[in-house]
Amino acid sequence: MQLLDGKYTAEQIKAEIAEEVVRIKARGGKIPHLAAVLVGNDGASETYVAAKVTDCKQVGFDSTLIRLPADISEETLLGHIDQLNRNPDIDGFIVQVPLPEHIDETRVTLAIAPEKDVDGFAPASVGRMCLGLPTFISATPNGVMELLRRYNIETSGKHCVVVGRSNIVGTPMSILMSRNSNPGNATVTLVHSRTPNMVEICQSADILIVAIGKPDFITADMVKQGAVVVDVGITRVNDSSRASGFRLVGDVHFESVKEKCSFITPVPGGVGPMTRASLLQNTLKAQTLRPQI
Ligand code: GUN
Repeated sequence: MQLLDGKYTAEQIKAEIAEEVVRIKARGGKIPHLAAVLVGNDGASETYVAAKVTDCKQVGFDSTLIRLPADISEETLLGHIDQLNRNPDIDGFIVQVPLPEHIDETRVTLAIAPEKDVDGFAPASVGRMCLGLPTFISATPNGVMELLRRYNIETSGKHCVVVGRSNIVGTPMSILMSRNSNPGNATVTLVHSRTPNMVEICQSADILIVAIGKPDFITADMVKQGAVVVDVGITRVNDSSRASGFRLVGDVHFESVKEKCSFITPVPGGVGPMTRASLLQNTLKAQTLRPQI
């Protein structure tokens, strides 16, 4: 078994982006600028957004964090989005989700200009991805594709099983893996909570991509010998033996599955760092390729 080391790969990607920023500066170009909108103060969202700002600093991007109160009206939030759409200094921006319940997330994503939608969550971006047109692919599926690409994992003609059908991971993952591209060209089966024979389908996977949000859901008996296993899940599980009081657990039971597979992503240190690196890649793309999107 070999680890698909997302932490190491993400550091490589960040070093490549930092070199590109040096080149942009040297030719007097515009430094990529990412803005993040954080509504309210959900603990996990605070952590994610802080990490995104740190990543920008690390590669030499400009970043702006816009903090808004939890009770902000939808109209006022849409006003902020409109300003970001019009601000020529902002190359791309994200609105961290989840949003407070009184705000319609779809309305918010619809308001983001497609050429600045570095999260790739907006309907126009998802539609363009489905059609194989230039666009932003959301960070987690893009990070998984990049990891498979950099480890030269053969996907063409393989059976890829995606577990989970969320809008931001499972669904786009299934589309990307079936596309005529490399990685891609796989025969894809998407399984979900209503799939009666999920175990047998998983057992037939050459590539198993799991994004279901249930700790240790995939056990060794569900995995074919030699399969490539990508674990997108990351759940905090209480653990009194840790100073933090919790540990991070993936959707795959790593200890048993690692004995059976050819490649596997660890949690943490697998898909998570790749997601963060992908947002930086998208922001660089927003600055350099805007006219094409
Ligand atoms: N919440 C959890 N992950 C993400 C993400 O990648 N983007 C945004 N905007 N919100 C999130």
